[in-house]
Amino acid sequence: MIITDIQYADVAQAVEEGFSKIPKRLPSWLFYDETGDRIFQEIMRIPEYYLTACEYEIIQMHKAKLRRHAQADGTPFNLVELGAGDGFKTEILLKEFTEHKLPFVYSPIDVSASVLYQLEDRLNNIPGLVVRPMNSKYNEALKLLSESELRKVFLFLGANIGNFDIEEARAFIKSFSSSMQEDDLLLIGFDLKKDPRLIQAAYDDPHGITLDFNMNLLVRLNRELGAQFQLDQFRHYPYYNPETGMTKSYLVSQRDQDVYFEACDKHVHFDRWEVVHTEVSQKYDQTMIRKLAAQAGLEIVDHYYDCKHYFSDVLMKKIS
Ligand code: TRP
Repeated sequence: MIITDIQYADVAQAVEEGFSKIPKRLPSWLFYDETGDRIFQEIMRIPEYYLTACEYEIIQMHKAKLRRHAQADGTPFNLVELGAGDGFKTEILLKEFTEHKLPFVYSPIDVSASVLYQLEDRLNNIPGLVVRPMNSKYNEALKLLSESELRKVFLFLGANIGNFDIEEARAFIKSFSSSMQEDDLLLIGFDLKKDPRLIQAAYDDPHGITLDFNMNLLVRLNRELGAQFQLDQFRHYPYYNPETGMTKSYLVSQRDQDVYFEACDKHVHFDRWEVVHTEVSQKYDQTMIRKLAAQAGLEIVDHYYDCKHYFSDVLMKKIS
């Protein structure tokens, strides 16, 4: 595995920067330590979190079409997946591609090393599959990959693009597209706007698993930075705004408190009811998707839906 790795210093810097913002903010990659990975895998199995099942259905239903697009003129390609996770959904595609003997190398990128080990385990039994996992943030991995001449098929599935707000998504896809070659393809997963109550429930499940996921951020800071967060002094609060399509997740301080960070010998103050913004989960509609593509100089080649039209995978390429 190629490792550029998330170090202690990255965590310290992210917290320092995030806590000096108003409102306080923590970056979403912090969720995915070993415990966070495990809890997120549980989230993906709870009925309220419809995203994973919907996208699984899409890939299952449309794998042959996706294979034909990826195969293109038959030249070898690199299948690059940003934020691959444990490969639960991608496994379908990888089996489809290898069964039809497509000439490709699979490069999954993820911030979490532990999840990449699970992915390697899962994919071990696919004969003929070549996997080159990269444990890093997107930019570092993409820089490395751009050195190869191979045609690329990029996958950016799940809730990944939704974890950027619209502005960030626009900037990211724009710069992404500028480094794409003419024959490259990009498949992006978009969670679509729908009954606001369904979305709200996906981020506020009654089993308390999403709560544990959010709280694990504080557990991580306690362990890695010697912080002294008392977990019962914070609560998880998600809020979906149907007007903008944005879900925001917060940790809300239950009282006036100073939290000590041993690693930097500092206290951080939280007012009563002050929020720490921990995640964005942006939902899209057709107009927003078309606009995002157009602004990045991309054209839509094809789009796929699950039967309820809760989710969409959209295939794009550079406008030639
Ligand atoms: N980032 C993912 C998403 O937006 C994972 C997630 C699910 C999440 N529930 C969450 C992130 C609650 C923060 C808080 O779907």
